[in-house]
Amino acid sequence: MDSSVIIGPEALPALAEFLYRPAVSRVFVLVDSNTSRLCLPLLEKHLPTNYHLIEIPAGEEYKTLATCDTVWCQLTEQRADRHAVLVNLGGGVVTDLGGFAAALYKRGIRFVQVPTTLLAQVDASVGGKTGIDFQGYKNQLGVFQAPAAVFIEPGFLQTLDPRQLKSGYAEVLKHWLIADAAAFNVHRRLGWLTDDWTPIIRESVALKQRIVAQDPLESGPRKLLNFGHTVGHALESYLLTQPGREILHGEAVAAGLVCESWLSVQRGLLSAEEMDKIETFVFSVFDKVAFVGLETDAIADLALQDKKNAGAIINCTLLNGIGNGVFDQPVTVAEIAESLRYYHRLQA
Ligand code: GLY
Repeated sequence: MDSSVIIGPEALPALAEFLYRPAVSRVFVLVDSNTSRLCLPLLEKHLPTNYHLIEIPAGEEYKTLATCDTVWCQLTEQRADRHAVLVNLGGGVVTDLGGFAAALYKRGIRFVQVPTTLLAQVDASVGGKTGIDFQGYKNQLGVFQAPAAVFIEPGFLQTLDPRQLKSGYAEVLKHWLIADAAAFNVHRRLGWLTDDWTPIIRESVALKQRIVAQDPLESGPRKLLNFGHTVGHALESYLLTQPGREILHGEAVAAGLVCESWLSVQRGLLSAEEMDKIETFVFSVFDKVAFVGLETDAIADLALQDKKNAGAIINCTLLNGIGNGVFDQPVTVAEIAESLRYYHRLQA
């Protein structure tokens, strides 16, 4: 599952080198309506002149089978063979969907990830998870398939609005909480904004790669990376069904980090002082996600759909102290609902 990940100004020239190899029959570039406008101009000089562009609409609501159909139709019409390469230029939707489409086309063509959001650079593009949403459930269909390589140009982050940047920061924060207490403590003092994201991306990618290398198919330690996501995914899925209330993935994860830290306190795994540090840091970056108390049971019910569960047991990742995640901690729907009520009562 391990792919080479190249980070920094050398990333796009390295991509060009990869694409110009004789083993590549044809290059296809998948973009969405945002990356087509904001990022493709930076990439274009590194692409062969005869590349074929596939553009999809931007947004989580297009992470669907219908969008895959568009990609597969174009690959077929263009007679892409099994030596073609799909370059996924975008955030998590483009990298997840593009990886999935490539993995299934003719039983699999190579794809490379060129992530353009912080979230995709530190998380989605690394580790070989691909997929699409289905029937209102996030990433319900998907396969593990490693990209041929990942090329990360931090300069793309200049095209992002602060809300998107923060959304990615939730995954960075998650990495520190599960595995790096020292970095958590340094960064909670420094604050979240920085002029140079490169060191944070490098550290975050290295941390994720270390965990994925131990357990590529998520039967054990990779579940640590799901910290914040049991509640986060439930909240995100719930709000996705409420027109006008959709939130970004990282915004939901940030709420999940607080709720699942609270569950860790209830289990006696995390101290009140550590909880306070986590909350203070989270709310120095993120606004509170709005929902009403009456919605907590409906949101908590959605946590039962999580792929990490075994039957009716919700398996959650919790914190045994900051920097030390523990996976496969059974929690009940009622406890998830209680954690949401705790979050709801907080004065952010
Ligand atoms: N985003 C969590 C993982 O890749 O396992």
